[in-house]
Amino acid sequence: MSFDLLVRNANLPDGRTGIDIACRNGVIAAVEPGITAEAKEIIDAGGLLVSPPFVDSHFHMDATLSLGLPRMNRSGTLLEGIALWGELKEILTVEAVVERALKYCDLAVSQGLLAIRTHVDVCDDRLTGIKGLLEVRDKVRDYIDLQLVAFPQDGLFRSPNAEKNLLTALDMGVDIVGGIPHFERTMQDGARSVARLCEIAAERGLMVDMHCDETDDPMSRHIETLAFETQRLGLQGRVAGSHLTSMHSMDNYYVSKLLPLIAEAEIHAIANPLINITLQGRHDSYPKRRGQTRVPELRSHGVNVAFGHDCVMDPWYSMGSGDMLEVASMGLHVAQMTSRDDIRYCFECVTNHPARAMRLEGYGLQTGCKADFMLLQARDTIEAIRLKATRLKVVKGGKVIASTPARTTRLELPGRPATVDPAGYAPVES
Ligand code: FE2
Repeated sequence: MSFDLLVRNANLPDGRTGIDIACRNGVIAAVEPGITAEAKEIIDAGGLLVSPPFVDSHFHMDATLSLGLPRMNRSGTLLEGIALWGELKEILTVEAVVERALKYCDLAVSQGLLAIRTHVDVCDDRLTGIKGLLEVRDKVRDYIDLQLVAFPQDGLFRSPNAEKNLLTALDMGVDIVGGIPHFERTMQDGARSVARLCEIAAERGLMVDMHCDETDDPMSRHIETLAFETQRLGLQGRVAGSHLTSMHSMDNYYVSKLLPLIAEAEIHAIANPLINITLQGRHDSYPKRRGQTRVPELRSHGVNVAFGHDCVMDPWYSMGSGDMLEVASMGLHVAQMTSRDDIRYCFECVTNHPARAMRLEGYGLQTGCKADFMLLQARDTIEAIRLKATRLKVVKGGKVIASTPARTTRLELPGRPATVDPAGYAPVES
């Protein structure tokens, strides 16, 4: 029996070592030690980590790589970012959106990022971003699972045509209903927008992913309404709350009531560490709040937590490179999740957890899953995050679609080794 691809001697994220992975017809056919059958292509993992691909469940691909257009964000705040994006929207073209998004997708693939959920602004009567990203979704279909969220950036009720445009975007084939309740004019309008958007999703059988309470105001409690509406409409497991940063500043007693409500409604919580740490707390003097939602507490209540990249070189964030290991690293630092178990959990927050939030089919390294994975220059998930390890091979459907040479440095020091390999400095522990 012959395979298309055989990966030998891999370490897996669950701690198993010396595992072979055999692929046939785009699917994982076997995952076990000592597979002896022939294969058209063999990759020797040499005791390095093979993981399912990275998944980014929160991104803005309509704005990515637009840094400086039409000007820079001088204050660095979320609100100036939204205003600046408003200026850029006026002059956007479908071609420019497509070109920048495809460039970002290339970058993503090179880093093993093969599934992305992007919010797309619908508060533009021309629906430029929607048109562009529907085209991109088709163009990258063979190598990136791209989910589109109809996102009323300027508010469902605050922006005059938002609801009409959002419904048009869904009619055009956009996958998910978005929202931004904390940006509506009043708390009541925010709550009404959550109810209306969840109803639209329920009527159409769609998922929901809302920017929810992305503010330092501890009284911004739209997540409570989102949990309620999810239960009322039977949307359990199909709703994500993105950002949830107000939870950082909420009263502890209230949070102790809120967390079980989120868990009961099976809402997925998506934190965006790189962006939350830079945009939140901007109105504070000292001490400055971190603004990231309460990741360890959500975890301990059994809530599925994912980390998203959110922005790369756009009106809100001038940094970023599509590297989900950078996202995981920032997430664990901001949440002070530094135990070995916590760090492994943070790797899950950029792989399995967002895959669950996005309801990806065939994701994972079990027999029968899609043959999508990557080989990293690290021996385990902790080392991968610590080193932002090089993605040596990225495999999609059993075929290598990206390769990067291993990072090694040649040393010119008398009496010292000739080369330095960043991996393997500390013993791997269970
Ligand atoms: Fe966002």
